Amino acid sequence: MPVDEWVPAVSIDDLSVGERRMFRHYDKRIALFRTANDIYAIDNRCPHQGYALLQGEVKEETLTCAWHNWKFELDQGGRASFGGEAVRSYPVEVRNGQVFVSSPPVVSSRQSESDLSTTPPSRRSALARAGHGRRRVGRRMG
Ligand code: FES
Repeated sequence: MPVDEWVPAVSIDDLSVGERRMFRHYDKRIALFRTANDIYAIDNRCPHQGYALLQGEVKEETLTCAWHNWKFELDQGGRASFGGEAVRSYPVEVRNGQVFVSSPPVVSSRQSESDLSTTPPSRRSALARAGHGRRRVGRRMG
């Protein structure tokens, strides 16, 4: 059975809109991207020939690999919209100003990595779930 656990990846203050960061967890290298709409975590390794997706270009929610231009839809669980297979994505949560990533599943000896599917897209963004972008400015009186 795979075991998921939420792992602190980066402070949200260190991941402004339009920025990206590398997050390492055990042997995994996970690329974090923050768009105007959400925060995404995907394998940094392009499923085509392994180029670092952190070097890719993001327009809206589409990531284009810098090497051969495969395109991945970040808001659709890493689905490939140009090229071949999807890139694995990981659930993201924002809690108390910290971005958490659901760790790569621990694979049991009877289960191979290929048995694990990519994460389906969530219906609400990690930022919306954390209440970002809807904060009231000002002080509560009384
Ligand atoms: S390595 Fe990413 S498209 Fe070829």
